Amino acid sequence: MRKIVISTGGGDAPGLNAVIFAVVNSATRRGWEVYGSRQGYKGLLDHDYLVRLTPEDVEGITPTGGTILGSTNKGNPFHMPVHNLAGEKSIIDISDKILDNFNRLGFDCHIAVGGDGSLEIAHNFAQKGMPVIGVPKTIDNDLEATDRTFGFDTAVATATEALDKLHSTAKSHDRVMVVEVMGRESGWIALYSGISGGADVILIPEIPFNMDAVCKKITENELHDKDYSIVVVAEGAKAEGGTVIDRGKGEEGREEVVLGGIGEWVANEIRQCIGKDTRSLVLGHLQRGGSPTTYDRLLALRFGAAAVRMADAGVFDHMVASMPPKMISVPLEDAIRTRKKIDLNGDKVLTAREIGICLGDVD
Ligand code: F6P
Repeated sequence: MRKIVISTGGGDAPGLNAVIFAVVNSATRRGWEVYGSRQGYKGLLDHDYLVRLTPEDVEGITPTGGTILGSTNKGNPFHMPVHNLAGEKSIIDISDKILDNFNRLGFDCHIAVGGDGSLEIAHNFAQKGMPVIGVPKTIDNDLEATDRTFGFDTAVATATEALDKLHSTAKSHDRVMVVEVMGRESGWIALYSGISGGADVILIPEIPFNMDAVCKKITENELHDKDYSIVVVAEGAKAEGGTVIDRGKGEEGREEVVLGGIGEWVANEIRQCIGKDTRSLVLGHLQRGGSPTTYDRLLALRFGAAAVRMADAGVFDHMVASMPPKMISVPLEDAIRTRKKIDLNGDKVLTAREIGICLGDVD
């Protein structure tokens, strides 16, 4: 092993810089060189986007949010939309060009840090012969093969703090506050922050919700002299018999749905159903920003160090995964197969129900 290239792909998550820090330092200590490919694979297409990374370059980045390499969740190299001079669109595959450059530049390993979309691309490169190691990243915590992804703990802390702040204004105005949080088709952020932040109602994708049940809970609050309510809605939640709201239909180069808008939909239903003063807000990308929590930093540093250990052992086409108390390696093909959903019989769901939180289903 002599030369590693690392890239960060997909939506950013707090802890990406901690992974880069760990990879650069543990690889350098082994006498290897590390390069960073900016904006996903762009560094393997254009020299200006390829940067040498030394311990001096990454000093002090562990507590910082975002990624020093930049990221993109558009433009799969195997399925890249391009326009000709007449403005006509076509789809091309530029993976061979990337692989040729990887080999020509003498790289021995690619560490791809990303969510399921980026890891699938990494696996496709591995199938073409690129020695690839995946590192799981997403605030959504929806990768089945790892106990946790970094970024999730920070996103939950941000959402919980927001809920704490909303209590006083909701109470002052006797209002219902509906808060939409991220998470794609999984309700991890909604459930963890909703329980911790004192929500009355938590709506998650795993349980299609019934508006009568939601309104009943708000009305019951009033009967117990609690004239305000906090409702947390995961962006991927949907009403019984309904569908998710995709506001990204047709977004150029985007292969997955762009969720958003269910919070306002729920707020409207509450207004119509019980006539209560209701406001909605979308926490959005606040959940992706800021300094990673101690938990996320430590997890990200451990992922980075373990990825270099895998490179040392020649374990490619695998992803590093957290399986407490250990770090293990999982074939990329298995890692991208299923999204992790909330166990509806698990302790967190049970706790929510036992402390009186409505999960949108009929009891
Ligand atoms: O996967 C991370 C995530 O933040 C999701 O929770 C959310 O649906 C999506 O990315 C938003 O993507 P974008 O940055 O394109 O708005």
